[in-house]
Amino acid sequence: MSFQAPKGTFDWMPPRSEWALAVRDALSAPARRAGYGYIETPAFEDTRLFSRGVGESTDIVTKEMYTFEDKGGRSITLRPEGTASVVRAVIEHGLPGGPLPVKLWYSGSYYRYERAQKGRYRHFSQVGAEALGGEDPALDAELIVLAVDGYAGLGLRNVRLLLNSLGCRECRPAYRAALQEFLRGLDLDEPTRQRIEINPLRVLDDKRPDVQSQLADAPLVTDHLCGACKAYHEEVRGLLSDVGVSYTDDPRLVRGLDYYTRTTFEFVHDGLGAQSAVGGGGRYDGLSEMIGGPPLPSVGWALGVDRTVLAMEAEGLLTERPGTMDVFAVPLGEEARRRVFTLVAELRRAGLSVDMAFGGRGVKGAMKAADRSGARYALILGDRDLEAGAAQLKDLTTAEQTAVPIAEVVDILKGKFS
Ligand code: HAM
Repeated sequence: MSFQAPKGTFDWMPPRSEWALAVRDALSAPARRAGYGYIETPAFEDTRLFSRGVGESTDIVTKEMYTFEDKGGRSITLRPEGTASVVRAVIEHGLPGGPLPVKLWYSGSYYRYERAQKGRYRHFSQVGAEALGGEDPALDAELIVLAVDGYAGLGLRNVRLLLNSLGCRECRPAYRAALQEFLRGLDLDEPTRQRIEINPLRVLDDKRPDVQSQLADAPLVTDHLCGACKAYHEEVRGLLSDVGVSYTDDPRLVRGLDYYTRTTFEFVHDGLGAQSAVGGGGRYDGLSEMIGGPPLPSVGWALGVDRTVLAMEAEGLLTERPGTMDVFAVPLGEEARRRVFTLVAELRRAGLSVDMAFGGRGVKGAMKAADRSGARYALILGDRDLEAGAAQLKDLTTAEQTAVPIAEVVDILKGKFS
């Protein structure tokens, strides 16, 4: 019997896996530079954290959670997203009583039982950042700028920002009522009619053409914002323009999680087909209270690592090989192998990326391995070279070969990469 990765999952294998690491690093770098501290929470939580936090009527909670009973009879869910866990941890550690905002970033695996297709997986990775306990348009704008800078740091040019405001608990009920009234007058199937009563905003996100064609005149949330929400949104937009971040106002932007208030946004890439959202986020002023905590107005985002790698591929950015070797060492003979082993260890301690040929292969196979490694230099040492006290250093781009004293190999190579 042989096994395959479960449906909707895949393995990150070298060299492509290097890009996943590079993406995590680049997407989190701007947040780290902006005072966001690293948080790591468990990969599973009490199921109720997500049903309350993400929302009972969302697709995530009704259809997509990996939920099971553990051996102690508790209902446990593999995290489908990171925000509820971060808020839970911040409340549990009493941080709302200390200096605010609490700024945190994270990176890890998330699990959703979704219909698997390219860019939509059942196990995927996100980098996220959250600023908790701050109600300031500058904080919303800061987070958006950090995400924009993260994508730019990877060389991505075609990530677009969609921006909206979903209002607050003051103005949302009136909009919700207006939307419900409009939707009730449409020709929709029974499950959709039920959704109008439970979660009318989600109907706006229905992708079916026969539904979309009826939504052209749907009331827009931005026409129903209260004065405070309007002013807040204007300030966020102004700050973004001040730092040169361009965005598209999208009054129909509805996110798949129920906790959002005011600012919401999504980053989309047009080279990805149906799964075009490479990241998203927004403000969630009521989430803390929804899970039993104190009032804690907050804002954050999560950027998809898997889809960001696909976006880089679509822009032709995966050509250069990340994480290649500086030196590949080729020992020829038993004695030489021992000496090479030590030289390799010394070179690595000196900070160089170094690999060597294993298994006593012939020179031809070893040189092929050196080429495959992408190394700049091959360091070749035979038993006879040992007697002469010199190794051969071959520049693999020019094929030029020079003899260097074994005692000076480390310094010479260090010099070439300093
Ligand atoms: P989300 O929009 O559900 O938001 O996910 C954020 C990003 O994760 C998406 O834009 C997408 O790139 C990636 N993603 C989501 N589901 C999948 C999947 N099945 N396969 C591959 N990639 C996926 C959140 O998770 C919120 N917690 C974001 C947030 C943080 N809001 C406030 N703070």
